[in-house]
Amino acid sequence: MRSAAWFGSPDDVTGGGLRAFSHRSRMRQLGYLPEEHLGKPVIAILNTWSDINPCHMHLRERAEQVKRGVWQAGGFPLEFPVATLSETFQKPTPMLYRNLLSMETEELLRSYPVDGAVLMGGCDKTIPALLMGAASAGLPALVVPSGPMLRGHHRGKTLGSGTDLWAYWDEFRAGRISECEMSQVECGLARSPGHCMTMGTASTMTAAAEAMGMALPGSSAIPAVDSAHHRMAAAAGLRIVGLVEEDITPAAVMTREAFEDAAATVLSLGGSTNALIHLIAVAGRLGVPFSLEDFDAIGRRVPVLADVRPVGAHLMEDFYYAGGLPSLLRQLNEIPGALHPDRPTVAGHSFAGYFADAEIHGPAIRRHDDALYEEGGVTVLHGNLAPGGAVIKHLAAAPELLRHTGPAVVFDSYTQLREGIDDPAHAITKDTVLVLRGAGPLGGPGMPEYGMLPIPAYLLEKGVTDLVRISDARMSGTSYGTCVLHIAPESHAGGPLALVRTGDLITLDVQQRLLQLNVDPAELAERRLAWRPPEPVSTRGYGALYSEHVTQADQGCDFDFLASPGLNPVPDPH
Ligand code: FES
Ligand code: MG
Repeated sequence: MRSAAWFGSPDDVTGGGLRAFSHRSRMRQLGYLPEEHLGKPVIAILNTWSDINPCHMHLRERAEQVKRGVWQAGGFPLEFPVATLSETFQKPTPMLYRNLLSMETEELLRSYPVDGAVLMGGCDKTIPALLMGAASAGLPALVVPSGPMLRGHHRGKTLGSGTDLWAYWDEFRAGRISECEMSQVECGLARSPGHCMTMGTASTMTAAAEAMGMALPGSSAIPAVDSAHHRMAAAAGLRIVGLVEEDITPAAVMTREAFEDAAATVLSLGGSTNALIHLIAVAGRLGVPFSLEDFDAIGRRVPVLADVRPVGAHLMEDFYYAGGLPSLLRQLNEIPGALHPDRPTVAGHSFAGYFADAEIHGPAIRRHDDALYEEGGVTVLHGNLAPGGAVIKHLAAAPELLRHTGPAVVFDSYTQLREGIDDPAHAITKDTVLVLRGAGPLGGPGMPEYGMLPIPAYLLEKGVTDLVRISDARMSGTSYGTCVLHIAPESHAGGPLALVRTGDLITLDVQQRLLQLNVDPAELAERRLAWRPPEPVSTRGYGALYSEHVTQADQGCDFDFLASPGLNPVPDPH
């Protein structure tokens, strides 16, 4: 085992020389007997718990159940606190720091005496970051998803995090509910530890990890506070030791077929558009070719089978009671070619074992012949406004806007948008195409989730609830509306979005997969000559590193120097 290079072997305690002697003496300092760790697989538990992360507030204690499993399987667990990316609190967006957590993951696993890793996370960017880092580190690894929080509750109604936050806020802005009621909603929206319980990025990416075979079967939908979550954590601890002994690495599990199955799963969940960026980034770490076009092609052959908000009616707790991901996967597998059941997983059996006997037990999961929608929920757009592509979650959009031409009203920053949106001088109507730029990977920076641009209060009062909105930003997986996102290249990098002016006609046609700026090419060429690239947002530290190396949305927003396979040398522990 790799860790033996640090400690020596139980049969030859002085054989490792001076350094091994020193390392062993420090293990005594930590309070461990030689027989507790020598010769055993060392399992790093990478824990994204922190006091500021409500989605992971239970993980500090849950790591104890993982350790329990590791000990019982004959391993030696060591918990490592790693960067906590808390979607709600970290600004401008934790997406700016996803690659930082991925680097921390990779470097910790490389530099310490570790043989395998348990990756504990759930809140949006944490699972992609941990998977990217583990893929690059190359050690056997397994995900413990943090699990969704319980359903929200307010005056007899269930509330969904994110989704109902925006809905109630719009009702409040339109003057239809009181401040007093809003303070009750505040307490009812999020009622327990766990990640967002709509089909946001967290539920989407934990499901993607399970569907790739990087988490145990049925693990991703278990509510964070359910006793089953404790047992799943212990099972993961038991299993990682076997995974190390069998030397099953992330590259052996996350194959091209695994990414195809993850994409099919995400699309059949009506999952978050963020998944397109993240899965491309994880695949890049392993040298697996995977693109926006793959998502688009897969979306045309898989139906939406999860009836979960924002595209459906229910919440993750209902999805769990209906059987969780295994029940959905079994239905998906009924569709010829939708999944690859024979590929390897971390579970010690093939992917087929994830769903073989799973039945549906409730309305949050549909049968394959009774789909919520016949095609996947996300469409990839191209056109002269998005040469590198853009995405729209058309199922969360108003159907009548999916083919629309209207005049642009352009905002250059989110601050400008927030301050100006309610100003009648912009003369925004239901036909307007709202444009936000300067919100991409470089401009945001980090592509903040600004993509669900607000609707002016004066239109909300008239009952207008959706507009065509386009940006180089992302959108929360819990958001909805006719929002074109991830326009690549972004305006900050000189994409055509930078050249749009208020009054230009823009065409969105989801059926034709088109996003077009209806301006004469000669006029655009003139505007291009006049365009000056903006200054980098950050000039020092991590921000500067980020600005120099981040790739565009269609490439996964990874750092260019990380987005390929290949291991750094293992350090010599002597
Ligand atoms: Fe953590 Fe939504 S805020 S998952
Ligand atoms: Mg989110």
